[in-house]
Amino acid sequence: MKNILDAPFVRGMMKTTANMYRLGWDERNGGNISVMLDENEVAEYLDLNNVIRKIDMGFDAKPLIGKIFIVTGTGKYFKNVEDDPENNLGIIRVASDGVTADLLWGYSDGGRPTSELPAHLMSHISRLSVNPENRVIMHSHPTATLALTYVHELDEKKFTHSLWQVCTECMVVFPDGIGVLPWMVCGTNEIGIATAEKMKEFRLVIWALHGIYGCGKDLDEAFGLIETVEKAAQLYLMTASFPRVNTITDPDLVEIAKAFKVEYRKDFLNL
Ligand code: 13P
Ligand code: ZN
Repeated sequence: MKNILDAPFVRGMMKTTANMYRLGWDERNGGNISVMLDENEVAEYLDLNNVIRKIDMGFDAKPLIGKIFIVTGTGKYFKNVEDDPENNLGIIRVASDGVTADLLWGYSDGGRPTSELPAHLMSHISRLSVNPENRVIMHSHPTATLALTYVHELDEKKFTHSLWQVCTECMVVFPDGIGVLPWMVCGTNEIGIATAEKMKEFRLVIWALHGIYGCGKDLDEAFGLIETVEKAAQLYLMTASFPRVNTITDPDLVEIAKAFKVEYRKDFLNL
């Protein structure tokens, strides 16, 4: 059996949580990540018959029965993952009843997966239904993105359009736009259901006055989506109090989409 601390999926979580912390996106225990793993790859590091304990998830994740995920722990700080992955991360498998999880590794102080597990697993189900390659759901509190939700209309078309207009790369990176949810209590099945519904249509979902969700086939893709939104939100806020002398126009946005051959939300432009 290989050493789990050398596994690329553990190393990836260590590196990504450290990057997110250092960018100031994930204060204290803010943020959470889940990655669906390949069973054969996990079996190189862990005995899949050795269930450390059962964890009640409190919601039904039947479409994911048997699937294995590495997930950040609830209340755990992203800044500490690098130094103590076995305490701050866990590897869980959705059990045959669909409502409990088998703990295969981690949460070594008796911890549990993130309180946002409903939003994560329900979003995995949504994303897999539209993209079988999806593996990652990522939640974070990036500062400018969060700030923008206090001063910008919470309208998906207008929010996406404002960000497309401030950064040429935005149309290339998220041509499918950004879903927006109103403020809701976090950590509940209700916000999980609402997030997963948006995730059928969008790879990015804003939680107003809280943070953002992103997804992707790997950690880089989910991180890159959030990073690009955050950069654009910074630019928007840096320029918001000045007269807008120059801007990327809607015809320019069409030109970008054509040049990069991306399918974009045409109804999000004002043409
Ligand atoms: P957890 O510590 O339970 O992951 O919660 C952090 C968070 O960001 C809640 O939305
Ligand atoms: Zn949060």
